[in-house]
Amino acid sequence: MTAREQDSPELGATVRTLVAPLAATEAGPVLLCLQKVQEHFGYVPDGAVAVIADVCNITRADVHGVFSYYSDLKQSPGPAVPVRICAAEACQAVGARALAKAWREQCEGDPQLAQDTGVDEPVYCLGNCALGPAALVNGELVGRADVQALVDAVAAARSGESS
Ligand code: FES
Repeated sequence: MTAREQDSPELGATVRTLVAPLAATEAGPVLLCLQKVQEHFGYVPDGAVAVIADVCNITRADVHGVFSYYSDLKQSPGPAVPVRICAAEACQAVGARALAKAWREQCEGDPQLAQDTGVDEPVYCLGNCALGPAALVNGELVGRADVQALVDAVAAARSGESS
């Protein structure tokens, strides 16, 4: 048991239950363990890094190195309906920068929208280049996105519908 687990034994036990099967069966399981923890909690809570290091029998620095390298791994819960607008070249060529600017302005005028969506976390290519500008709203692709399409997708996600 790590020192952090002594502070929060329930968290430590949950993390161990999640990652032990991966550590036992996968080669180089650190990223898979971090992804599994994030899938469960929605982020990687304080203390999980130490447990993963212990279970994988590597240093916390090694786990932290992987954790800090991947921007998709989060240290805190994300927004309720995350919006990510593609900032890669193909989408830039068809207006992604203007869309991101217009979306920020939309959020500036609607604090609840800004809070619910986190405004925009850029992402670099969603594999939807032919339908740029592309965006991801609550994990759902939006092609040929404009502000209204994003507003509609956020509303659909809030109501539990998929777009
Ligand atoms: S460049 Fe935007 S989806 Fe590929």
